[in-house]
Amino acid sequence: MQLRINGKTEQIEDIDNDTPLLWVLRERLGLLGTKYGCGIGQCGACTVLIDGEPISSCLVRVADLAGRQIETIEGLSNGQDLHPVQQAWIDEQVPQCGYCQSGQIMTTVALLRRKPRPSQKEVEQALSRVLCRCGSYPRILSAIRKLSQEG
Ligand code: FES
Ligand code: FES
Repeated sequence: MQLRINGKTEQIEDIDNDTPLLWVLRERLGLLGTKYGCGIGQCGACTVLIDGEPISSCLVRVADLAGRQIETIEGLSNGQDLHPVQQAWIDEQVPQCGYCQSGQIMTTVALLRRKPRPSQKEVEQALSRVLCRCGSYPRILSAIRKLSQEG
């Protein structure tokens, strides 16, 4: 099976069609930035972009991904240059334990691509799909506000 991940074609051998994408990313490809939280689509820690949409990768069967573009946190930076959302996360010191942050960042990237200046309600709606037990939401909001002003 072939998957398009971060702009590259990855060949995945001997894989069951029902294997969730999250397992392939972490166990087969070593892309450990995407986190395993609940495994049942409730926490958003495993969020990646599929054709630009934020999706919980624990819920997606690899067999359903032929020809689709998958983006993970590892694909955001360009060599040494961080993606603007990653830089804003550092500037605002968003993460605490960090476990949810890959999902938060990928969700934010998708939101700002679609809507560079989202309303408060749109931001809250987007963020509601990724849970943060450490309460980093105020700093996430401030990072997004800063990015919206720059965008
Ligand atoms: S691990 Fe996928 S939604 Fe929680
Ligand atoms: S930073 Fe710890 S769960 Fe979000």
